[in-house]
Amino acid sequence: MAEERLYSLRNPWFVGAVAAVLAIFLLAALVGFVWVPYRQAGATLSGVWDAICRAAGAPAAPDAAVQLAPSQARPSEVILIPRMVATDSESVGRGGTLALRCTMCHGVRGMSGAESPSLAGQAPEVIYKQLRDYQSGHRTSTIMAPHVRNLSDQEMRDLGAYYASLPRVTAPPSLAEQLRAPAIVQIGAPMRNIAPCISCHGGSDLKTAAPLLDGAPATYLRSQLLSFADGSRRNDLFGQMRHIARQMTPEEIDQAVSYYSQR
Ligand code: HEC
Ligand code: HEC
Repeated sequence: MAEERLYSLRNPWFVGAVAAVLAIFLLAALVGFVWVPYRQAGATLSGVWDAICRAAGAPAAPDAAVQLAPSQARPSEVILIPRMVATDSESVGRGGTLALRCTMCHGVRGMSGAESPSLAGQAPEVIYKQLRDYQSGHRTSTIMAPHVRNLSDQEMRDLGAYYASLPRVTAPPSLAEQLRAPAIVQIGAPMRNIAPCISCHGGSDLKTAAPLLDGAPATYLRSQLLSFADGSRRNDLFGQMRHIARQMTPEEIDQAVSYYSQR
């Protein structure tokens, strides 16, 4: 008898207790799933549902979170395939003529003494992809933009073939030299998910469309790493450089920059 009365809707204590538990539950859900995400992400949330998804751990859909320009929603329009750029002698010849416009900054033989990156000996895919990205706006540079505006797809391939045909700035590092490189360059930082720079940028391996960094100007290397880290350069496929640069400490950036600029 006594028990029946306890769990009855006519028992005001029972109803009150259930209502109180429900109220606490709802309040906690509101705080955890709506208030906290709004406090943390604020303007980048597109609505209550987005806040709930964020709190539940679903990654934000980049388009919904921030209104990105079409050129920014994807890192690049280029679909990379190894050896996608033909490097026959005709293409190299045409590229050599086009490259006369580029010598004042990138040097007569693709080796720049100034603050511009060296292009000599880069894989043709590197040059081609970067030129396409400048043209489509996926990589922004007020200096490069006017020089790519009127280039056709074939001209960008020819420029790639030409620069690839020039001797690279420095020979690949010997094993002994690799072992003397700073830790971040030769082993990366596994705990922070940073693969060694030499596994992609030449050294132990060269990944399709990863530029050689040897001899690049220090200011250029630093500015690229910092703009990958803050997201102002976002044309790297799968965000592979953005993930790395964000995780690097200022000391590691200094070490990598001085290693590569002095090679
Ligand atoms: C007025 C100087 C100037 C001229 C002329 C110029 N460039 Fe550049 N180029 C630069 C600078 C500076 C950068 C680095 C820009 C940045 O920060 O993104 C650059 C970057 C590049 C890159 C990217 C390299 C990399 O490693 O990511 C390529 C490829 C390139 N230029 C090719 C060319 C070609 C081809 C021409 C001629 C059609 C040309 N440039 C003309 C100054 C110039
Ligand atoms: C998983 C492969 C990978 C690893 C590891 C890697 N990079 Fe890169 N890096 C790339 C690729 C690919 C690009 C070209 C991105 C693009 O398409 O614009 C790049 C671009 C760069 C650039 C810009 C160069 C230019 O001329 O445009 C710099 C600087 C750079 N990486 C530095 C580093 C440093 C320093 C490390 C080591 C801490 C490192 N990277 C590790 C793949 C890698």
